[in-house]
Order: sequence, then C-alpha cells, then structure tokens
Amino acid sequence: MAAATKTVALGPEPARADDGPRTVGRRGSIRYDYFKDESELGSIIAMIDKDLSEPYSIYTYRYFIRGWPKLCIIAYDEDQEDKMVGVIVCKADHSRRQRYRGYIAMLAVDTTLRRKRIGSSLVTLAIREMVAIGCDEAVLETEITNKAAMRLYENLGFYRDKRLCKYYLNGVDAFRLKLWLKDVSDCSDVVAARKQQEEAAAVLAASRPSAGAGAQT
Ligand SMILES: CC(C)(COP(=O)(O)OP(=O)(O)OC[C@H]1O[C@@H](n2cnc3c(N)ncnc32)[C@H](O)[C@@H]1OP(=O)(O)O)[C@@H](O)C(=O)NCCC(=O)NCCS
Repeated sequence: MAAATKTVALGPEPARADDGPRTVGRRGSIRYDYFKDESELGSIIAMIDKDLSEPYSIYTYRYFIRGWPKLCIIAYDEDQEDKMVGVIVCKADHSRRQRYRGYIAMLAVDTTLRRKRIGSSLVTLAIREMVAIGCDEAVLETEITNKAAMRLYENLGFYRDKRLCKYYLNGVDAFRLKLWLKDVSDCSDVVAARKQQEEAAAVLAASRPSAGAGAQT
C-alpha cells in the first residue's frame, strides 16, 4: 500500500478579527462557517440532494451534523446576501484498525460557482479540523465516473486506496480515496502490517522451486 506523503495545499485565508467565532476562513466574498443550527439544515439537504446519486434521509444528515458540528463547514457568498453556496459534511471516529479516521460523507458546491476553488477550500478546512482533533487519516468514497471530485481530491494529495465494486445503488463502482494526516511511521498498525507482508513475501520467495541450493532440475 503506497502511503501519500503530500501535504494539503494552502487553503483559504484565516478568519478576520471582525468575523464571528463560527467563521473558519474566507476567500474573496466567500466566507466559511461551522454549522450553526437546525435552520441551516434545509438548505444543506437541498444543496447535497440535487447532486448526489444516493438519497439520504434527514436522520443521516442529523447523525453527521449533530455529532460533528465542527466537521460540517458551510460556504456563504457575501456578495449574494449570504447565500449558501457550498457545504462539506464529515465525521471522525475509530476505524476497525483503531485508526482515528476523518470521513468525508458529503460535498457539494452551487452549480453557478463551480471551478472557483470553493470545493477545494471546504475540503482543506475540513482536513485542518481533522488534523486539529488528531485524526490519523481522511477517507471518502466517490463514484469512479466523478472526474471533478477525483481531480479535486487527488490535487489535494488523496490517493486511490481501494476500488469498491458496485458500491452505489446505481451500480457504479467507487474509489475509496485516502490521505494520511500523520507520518505513516507514527501508525504502529501500518508498520506492523508492512512487516508482516514483508515476512510473508520472504517465506513465499524462499519456498519457490527455483530458490536456494535445494532446487531440483
Ligand atoms: C466536485 C465539486 C464539489 C467540485 O467543487 P468546485 O468548487 O467546483 O471545485 P474546485 O474549484 O475546488 O476544483 C478543484 C479542482 O478539481 C478539478 N475539477 C473541479 N471540477 C471539475 C470538472 N467539472 N471537471 C474536471 N475537473 C474538475 C480541477 O482539477 C479543479 O482545479 P482547476 O479548476 O484549477 O483545474 C462540485 O463539482 C460538485 O458539487 N459536484 C457535485 C457533487 C459531487 O460530486 N460531490 C463530490 C462527491 S464525492
């Protein structure tokens, strides 16, 4: 397994002194805020539902946003009377391998404001938050046909960890993309797994008929 060591590219500017405590960054007229309250939920759902192939129930949204409100970051356009123009919804918990995993569940940007780095800024800010709370890695799944998402994440250093066959209801495969947030040598389970792989490979190589002096001709 190849570990990505590329660091996350510089994201938006930090919040200004006169910004409220919810503001985590800004770029031009776009302000990035943490989730505030339930009044934002309808617009979040509308923005995400129109683009994604998987229908999510309101309980799914609440599970993520109430559980990890600082991992739900919303982009507002101050030039459009604070219209919501993008959102990212994530969580953080322990994976089966006991790594502290940041998980990006949903990401969407208003169709009229795409290719202006709002999506990249949302991901960068969410990753900063994951780093701040000590996550070892960030992961997500995306349809293999979603070129925009694939490029956005790969530009930020994510790599293709797995291909998941027919992962979505529409039958499309997914890529699981991953970004290491810590030096891999800090993750003892990764180091142990690598050692095991190397030992297994050495045993296999030694047991091949051509290996060693005892090989028969
Ligand atoms: C994917 C999405 C969030 C990207 O948001 P965005 O704000 O337009 O993305 P950015 O401006 O930050 O783009 C960053 C890079 O991603 C790539 N990219 C973004 N949109 C692209 C497109 N339509 N085609 C090809 N590459 C694209 C480019 O490399 C781009 O950098 P560049 O503009 O310098 O070439 C947006 O297209 C969207 O909301 N799509 C629908 C929902 C979705 O697919 N979400 C992801 C689910 S995993």
